[in-house]
Amino acid sequence: MFKKLNHEVVEKNAGLLAILTVVAISFGTLVEITPNLFMAETNTPMKGMKPMTALQFEGRDIYIREGCVQCHSQMIRPFRHETERYGHYSLAGESVWNHPFLWGSKRTGPDLARVGGRYSDSWHEAHLIDARDVVPESIMPGYPWLADAKLDGVLTPKKLSIFKDHFDVPYTDADIAGATEAVKGKTELEALIAYLQSLGTNLK
Ligand code: HEC
Repeated sequence: MFKKLNHEVVEKNAGLLAILTVVAISFGTLVEITPNLFMAETNTPMKGMKPMTALQFEGRDIYIREGCVQCHSQMIRPFRHETERYGHYSLAGESVWNHPFLWGSKRTGPDLARVGGRYSDSWHEAHLIDARDVVPESIMPGYPWLADAKLDGVLTPKKLSIFKDHFDVPYTDADIAGATEAVKGKTELEALIAYLQSLGTNLK
């Protein structure tokens, strides 16, 4: 009787319910998330990891712009049925330079965390222009405009230097100085493919 009454008080008082909800969630956050922020395993880049080239970096921005993350995750979970299909499960150290993370949670299409090197550049080119040309049953949309849009590279050095200054990505001054030249005149399709081909290859 006493217990029931207590619960009723909380459920019938929106303010109290809100406060107690916040307390419960805060406690969960503290216990689940906070330790990860301080564990070396989760915030140290994997040994031998190379930063993305300027072209791969631009490709990543196109991946974000086109919303590929709405259908593709980049997070292989440590389960047998995932590792058999996609390869070694994702490690925290592979993602420390990824801002924002593109782990995703929706898998309308396959996980892409280790798609790098799985197909040829020309396969990707055909697939991105019209997926049905290479996978007849595919429901992935086509992105033909990427083949026409050219990069000018005006903002590329700035993007790299932001990642260097704020996220400790080890870009050299030469990388930044040469960034415009490295991407200028390349198509968005080439950049996106360069990015896809780099995914997961740091582990190999
Ligand atoms: C509406 C959902 C959807 C969107 C948006 C989408 N895809 Fe896909 N994607 C799929 C599906 C479904 C497949 C599996 C069939 C196929 O291979 O076409 C796939 C397959 C792929 C594959 C082959 C993966 C493999 O291991 O076989 C790549 C690479 C890929 N997509 C890249 C992209 C990129 C890059 C974008 C953004 C430009 C994108 N996708 C947007 C649904 C989507």
